[in-house]
This record gives sequence, C-alpha cells and structure tokens, in this order.
Amino acid sequence: MKPYVFITRRMPAAIVEMIERECEVSMWEEEETPVPDEILAREIKRADGIFCNVSDTITKEMIDGAERLTIIATMAVGYNNIDIEAAAARGIQIAHTPGVLTETTADLTFALLMAAARRLPEGMEAIKNDEWGAWAPFFLTGQDIHHSRLGIIGMGRIGEAVARRGKGFSMEVVYHNRSRKHEAEEAIGVRYQELDELLETSDFVCLTAPYTNETHHLMNAEAFKKMKDSAIFVNTSRGSTVDEKALFTALKNGEIRGAGLDVFEQEPISSSHPLLSLPNVTLLPHIGSASEKTRWRMAEMTANHVLQGIRGEALDHPVKE
Ligand code: DGY
Repeated sequence: MKPYVFITRRMPAAIVEMIERECEVSMWEEEETPVPDEILAREIKRADGIFCNVSDTITKEMIDGAERLTIIATMAVGYNNIDIEAAAARGIQIAHTPGVLTETTADLTFALLMAAARRLPEGMEAIKNDEWGAWAPFFLTGQDIHHSRLGIIGMGRIGEAVARRGKGFSMEVVYHNRSRKHEAEEAIGVRYQELDELLETSDFVCLTAPYTNETHHLMNAEAFKKMKDSAIFVNTSRGSTVDEKALFTALKNGEIRGAGLDVFEQEPISSSHPLLSLPNVTLLPHIGSASEKTRWRMAEMTANHVLQGIRGEALDHPVKE
C-alpha cells in the first residue's frame, strides 16, 4: 500500500504529480478557503504526510491523534501555526521553506516602506475620487527614504536582505537582534542598537523577526510611544508581533506617522477592520512571498520535503528548535 499524503490547499497538477509518483494523494480542493479544522484533524489522523501552509493551525490534539504521520511540510518559512513540541514528542518531522523566499519578501517589505513613506495608496485614492486638482506645492508630501535611518528588528535572512536594499537607497541601517550579527555588520555595513535606541532614533522601523513567545506584542503601546512621531512602522513577519490596538492608537494620535502591514493578528481581516479607517496605513493581504516564481519554488520544496520525510531521508530544511 502506498503512503497517504494530504495537501491542505489546491495545488497545481505538477506539484500533486510529484507526490503521486510515490504516494496516494488527496487534497482540499479550495484555492482560497482553508480546510476546516475537523477535516484537517481527520486527515492528520490517517495520513503519512501532510503538505500544509500558514493558514492551517496544527494543534497538539491533532498531532496526538495521528496514527502514522511522519512528516508535516509547510509551504512557508514561518511555522508558528504548528505545535512543534507536540510533533517532536511524537517523532514527527517538520520541514519549512527558508531561503527561497528571502529576496521576494524583502522586496515586498521595501515596497511597503516606500508606499507608506510616499503615500502611494492616498495618491491613488485621490485620483479615484477626483481630488487631484491643479499642481499644489504641498499636496501629498511624504517622507524621504534616501539618507534616512532604517531600523530593522530581526536580523535573519529577510532582515539582512531588507538592510541591503536600505543601503542601496543610501539609508543608514541599524538593527536589533537576539544576538549580534558581526558578519552582517561587516558585509552590509549595518550597526547594532539596543531596541529602545533603535525605536527612538529610526525614521523607519521594519519588523522581520519571527513570531515566538518572546516577540508576542513586541510592538506595544510603550514601543510605539518610543518611536519618532515622524516615523513609519512596517511589519512583514507575523501579525501577533504587534499589538494592533496599540498601533491603531499610535497612528490615530499621531504618535507615529504611518504604517505598512502585510500581516495581522487575525487573518484574513475584513473591510471593517479599524486600521482601514485610517488614511496613513498601507495594508496588504499577507503576500510577502507571493511572486509566481517564489511560490512555485516553495511548493516544489514542500513536495520534496513530504517525499523525503516519507522515504525516511534527511530533510533539506528541517525545523530545528
Ligand atoms: C511564510 O513563508 O512564513 C510567509 O508568511 C507565507 O508565505
């Protein structure tokens, strides 16, 4: 009997076929709706391998119910949606997709920074609403990006790639990270700062740290108060690194100038989300790694990880805590 693999979201035929060469496969056929929890639990119970993504919450209870599972491969670099301790306790391997999405996510982080700084969504709204009259000296003036100071919280692969983009824009780049990154300091020309100093002095604060117990609501009311009132906050990591209510207050009260967000505490957000009522935000629907090429590579990597796990081979990218 072939091993059984469940894919939690519709994947292109070429990806499914990669796995079907060696396994029996079934798939949640929806492209935009996540698999319901009860179906996910049922599939985890009987599958040898799971191909999942960021919107699947894989709990201890689901993992404890697994009868044959050897591999959970997620099509993402972040894996905070999977109870990795429960998986480790059962000897179930977890794989993710680091590296492949670094530059694509850094591109989007910088796009958000630029959009928020130069007020691009407001410009487009103005045209749509026929608010673009004659040229006006101070119409939609924003913040300069060049020669400003970029503070990056979380100097992993994506943080470094954002730093390189900042240097390309003649920015001074400072960073905060759990540990000093001496190589990056040398190679990219970035400077380490304590978090408070980074918040107090940066013109742009970009959060690229992974979501963990330590980074839960790292950006809270106190942190936003420390930022310059002219500063812009950008988040492309995970929504729960930010206390969204505190961010809303900081934006509304002019404690900071603007924000660009690709991630939210509860995703998806709806059109009634309070942040959407503010003019000084640029909001995106979690598309950091969403270039065609990168998403295909992530899907191929995930399919390979499933096969490696099932064959008992070493994983290319195991999650190691
Ligand atoms: C990730 O990979 O963790 C992204 O958030 C989803 O592409």
